[in-house]
Amino acid sequence: MAFKNFPETGASKENILDILENFAKKMKPYSMRGLRIYSTDPHPLAIEAITKFLPFNRNNIGTHTSNEYASGLQYLEAEVISMLSNLFGLEKGDGYLTQGGTEGNITGLWIGRNMLQENGGKLCLLKTPLTHYSIEKAADLLNINKVVDVPCDTEYGMDGEKLKETIKLLYQEGYNNFLIALTLGYSGTGTVDPLNEIDAVINDFQSKLKIKTYVHMDAAIGGLVYPFVSEKILDFRYSSLQSISLDMHKTGLVPHNAGVFLCRKGLQNFIERPVPYLGLGKDNTLSGSRPAAIAAGCWSIIMLLGKSGFKKIVESELNLKKYFIEASMANEYLPPFIFITHPSINILAFHINKLKNSQLDPQTEKRFGLKPCWLLHDGEKKLFYTIIFMPHITKKIIDEFFASLKWYKK
Ligand SMILES: Cc1ncc(COP(=O)(O)O)c(C=O)c1O
Repeated sequence: MAFKNFPETGASKENILDILENFAKKMKPYSMRGLRIYSTDPHPLAIEAITKFLPFNRNNIGTHTSNEYASGLQYLEAEVISMLSNLFGLEKGDGYLTQGGTEGNITGLWIGRNMLQENGGKLCLLKTPLTHYSIEKAADLLNINKVVDVPCDTEYGMDGEKLKETIKLLYQEGYNNFLIALTLGYSGTGTVDPLNEIDAVINDFQSKLKIKTYVHMDAAIGGLVYPFVSEKILDFRYSSLQSISLDMHKTGLVPHNAGVFLCRKGLQNFIERPVPYLGLGKDNTLSGSRPAAIAAGCWSIIMLLGKSGFKKIVESELNLKKYFIEASMANEYLPPFIFITHPSINILAFHINKLKNSQLDPQTEKRFGLKPCWLLHDGEKKLFYTIIFMPHITKKIIDEFFASLKWYKK
């Protein structure tokens, strides 16, 4: 982009709209942006709802779940938090709408650090090698110097046994406070951390040793996928889990920025600040001032789809994932694929051993928006590609992808 001076005088509205129109024409829908996109075309109702409230897009600062005077967009936000808390097994929760998964993760770890600090002693953050980088960003911001990776098990989730060994070793080194960052749908593999096993490990340790934990779950991807199709519960019904970050702008059909932070009642007190220039006002969020209208978008989609509507969408994404796996096997000219995935998440990572350097040719990578990343498989680092089966992905795109591999030989 060329350097642009601040204009001396204003331009005409027509001129401005013409320029914007040209920019708008170049924007591509998600369906044209490849196989590795974590968002999708927003539902028209979400756009209509947000647009309706744009003239009243005031500052939604603070948290409205305990605000008995909440009205309008504050009220809608409180209902969004309430409906999502209910989905995750929490009768009365707190929380607020964030700028996205990153903010929710930082908020969760911020609350956790402050809560554990009250306990005194040394603190360590536990995660896995697959954890989203926003968790390390949080550690940096929060001055958490000790960050340890717990290895994954064969299902690409945090290994409960290794967690036990790690906590034991760290306890011997004098660590007594553990912030544990779990993930429901890792970005690269779609796999999930087994909260059920981890909760058991934590409860066992807490009954024997003087340790305290705070478990936060990054559900940026899986939050609006997993609960609709999995029989296994991984939510607030496990007592060790304190907070969750998820994104309605990923799998919730709402445009950016529509992140959600959920936590047990009262936990945001650990980050609360008085706002002296607002009299008795208080703020207990990371963002402070934040847009209100997005609440109308989130509220409308949850009300429109309900559990059954989300389930239908997720099931069709999982069917498409199955179609991809079957198509890879049906093409006898193709070398075998190695897959990593989770049955209840719409993500698939694949590796093709026989390719030169295990990489697709640059044209195929570009055309389908695929970028390789390193993952540990059978004890070896291998290059994997990730596909996110979002509503804009079709059988046609998948067929085109396989057709583009025709010249590869077994
Ligand atoms: C697992 C996971 N966590 C967190 C994030 C960050 O979300 P956001 O980009 O909304 O901040 C992402 C983004 O893709 C993600 O995949």
